[in-house]
Amino acid sequence: MPETDSKSPKDAASHPAFSKGLEGVVASETRLSLVDGENSRLIYRGIPIQELAGTSTFEETTFLLWNGRLPLAAELTEFKSKLAAQRKFDPAVLKILKDMPLNSRPMGVLRTMVSVLGLFDKEADRIDVDNMKRKALHLTAVFPTIVAAFYRLRQKKKPVDPDPKLSHAANFLYMIAGKKPEPEMEKALDAYLILLADHGLNASTFSARVTASTQSDMYSAITSAVGTLKGDLHGSANQRAMEMILEIGEPEKAEAYVRDLLAQKKKVMGFGHRIYKKEDPRATAFRAIAQRLLDRTGEKKWMDISNRIEKVMLEEKKIPCNVDFFSASVLYVLGFPVDFFTTVFAASRVAGWTAHVIEQLTDNRLIRPAANYIGEADRHYLPIEKRQS
Ligand SMILES: CC(C)(COP(=O)(O)OP(=O)(O)OC[C@H]1O[C@@H](n2cnc3c(N)ncnc32)[C@H](O)[C@@H]1OP(=O)(O)O)[C@@H](O)C(=O)NCCC(=O)NCCS
Repeated sequence: MPETDSKSPKDAASHPAFSKGLEGVVASETRLSLVDGENSRLIYRGIPIQELAGTSTFEETTFLLWNGRLPLAAELTEFKSKLAAQRKFDPAVLKILKDMPLNSRPMGVLRTMVSVLGLFDKEADRIDVDNMKRKALHLTAVFPTIVAAFYRLRQKKKPVDPDPKLSHAANFLYMIAGKKPEPEMEKALDAYLILLADHGLNASTFSARVTASTQSDMYSAITSAVGTLKGDLHGSANQRAMEMILEIGEPEKAEAYVRDLLAQKKKVMGFGHRIYKKEDPRATAFRAIAQRLLDRTGEKKWMDISNRIEKVMLEEKKIPCNVDFFSASVLYVLGFPVDFFTTVFAASRVAGWTAHVIEQLTDNRLIRPAANYIGEADRHYLPIEKRQS
């Protein structure tokens, strides 16, 4: 609930309600997803994510987010082929990607490349719905291509051209590894892309909506969103969680490691959530996916370490894990390098960001909150020779 930081009746009159971190503040209306912390529930356009992750595909879920309903068979076929046709990017864009410093953080590269794509779109500044939908399709199609191409360049390998015959998930894995994935891997990534595609007014989506609300353009809004997702408290928690799991290395070391972090008052990445205080439904879905995948690939150790970390966090802090915890091991086993994890998150969330930008602009009002000024008043300008240190 918003609380006031006013200290006196006089302050209360001059300071409207303030909520640090905007916690509990409703800043927008949306028909895209419901994040229900009380009941540990997430639904997209009315449909529970568990149903979508078990039976749908990323393409179908994206259609649902953008159009408000599931597609008919012919519509889905057309949508998939349109998305596949947009995966390849302009050679001039690839040239710029090739000039990026190879030691750049992948999220920094992705953020820059979204901005670059805007420069190559002659209609970048058009914000009518048809144009916005075209850009949403283009950006969603091309995110995996950017990520995989930068990964291959960093490996001193040639980028792999997208294969239009493959699904969005299978093609992503194909462009990373250079070989077609096994169905189980494709399914796991597809579920990942579905489960992360939208999440109410999370920080990066809020950024996208704020930028869109100024009547800026789609590329600027998505650049803002990528920059926001990059932070450790948001999208980079999956990378940080896996770094921790790898550093722990052996199941028997997990407990002491986590207790030590807590003793130092440090946060354990992949735990806690602003809204889901009891359970993150996406984390529950990922636990099952991770279990299956790690059992199958023989990489059980990561699951054992994860389970032990979780046990300590529940015992000591009663804080449940979030989406980034078990999904970190899933991405690892799928072959994504750890410092690319957040870019995979972005390749999913771009579907939601673009949907929010379109929703914002169809009923727009400039987003412009206020700040309580708590600094000094009634000071005066002093000429430089009269100032004292
Ligand atoms: C996600 C997050 C920012 C939500 O935080 P929030 O609603 O602002 O809650 P706070 O950070 O104020 O945490 C509330 C309390 O729980 C503790 N806490 C929250 N997450 C914690 C974590 N991951 N590890 C250890 N303690 C944690 C805080 O230290 C705080 O304790 P205190 O009251 O004794 O100071 C927070 O849980 C976090 O930083 N998690 C780690 C990063 C992460 O996994 N992010 C991905 C989110 S999907």
